[in-house]
Amino acid sequence: MNNSASARCAVVGNPIAHSLSPQIHHAFAQQLGLTVQYERILSDEDGFANLVREFFAADGHGLNITVPFKEQAFALAEQCSPRARLAGAVNTLWMDKQTLHGCNTDGEGLVYDLIRLQAHPKNKRILIIGAGGAARGVVIPLLEAGAQTIKIINRTPARASQIIEDLNKQLPQFKKHLIAGDLQDTAGQWDIVINATSAGLGTTGLAHGPIDYSPNSLAYDMVYGAKPTAFMQHAQTQGAQHTADGLGMLVEQAASSFAIWFGQRPPTNAIRQQLRAQLQA
Ligand code: ATR
Repeated sequence: MNNSASARCAVVGNPIAHSLSPQIHHAFAQQLGLTVQYERILSDEDGFANLVREFFAADGHGLNITVPFKEQAFALAEQCSPRARLAGAVNTLWMDKQTLHGCNTDGEGLVYDLIRLQAHPKNKRILIIGAGGAARGVVIPLLEAGAQTIKIINRTPARASQIIEDLNKQLPQFKKHLIAGDLQDTAGQWDIVINATSAGLGTTGLAHGPIDYSPNSLAYDMVYGAKPTAFMQHAQTQGAQHTADGLGMLVEQAASSFAIWFGQRPPTNAIRQQLRAQLQA
């Protein structure tokens, strides 16, 4: 990483036309007085690895990777952080001393957003609903931030158990903080409840058991939208004190990528507020 005054970055995905990443990173760069050229790159399945190699061979500074290439990016990276290894997915790539490095900044982004919302994970009892890629990406940062308990519940409970098994192999010191279950297995009282599924609520959507929210609790949906999500609305009826959607996480994971590439974490409030206004327009 260097603090070069001018740098070329991009987000690679398919589809990619609606990615907010260029807007977010340009706002960061402007706030920090850096000149960053950040573009969207559409890739096809077979061309991804070459595209990445060529980008860095042409002195590209950093890449964000989105659906459906995060797993390919993980396979391509020569050095990966533990959180990227557990996720099996990478959303940030950069070159350092001829080595391609990969990290997954989603979890750190979530932790920063929880802190902003005055729900620091330290000593919190956290229920994660879902055990796909989105859940995998956030478990280690939540544990490292000091979560007291994390229960992962999923429609297919074996996927939740598998995350814990994988984590135990990688970081056994966290074993005592982790539990897995099915969607009805909501027993306990929860300070933070995170929807990490791709399902909305409703007749064909997410059907989890009743949740006992603690006083001052937060229900957090990783998805975001123009209005409160179905999960957030349902959480309020179940007694969640606060609710939030994942727009803040989107901005914070971008800030974490930016910090990796440029060595300084940008302020996030202005761009988050701008995006919120845009969403609601
Ligand atoms: P992502 O990378 O977005 O996490 P994923 O790996 O496909 O995508 O995971 C999707 C998650 O949403 C999973 O936890 C999935 O549950 P299963 O593992 O049982 O498939 C969950 N999910 C999707 N649709 C759901 C539904 N209708 N009800 C409950 N959970 C659902």
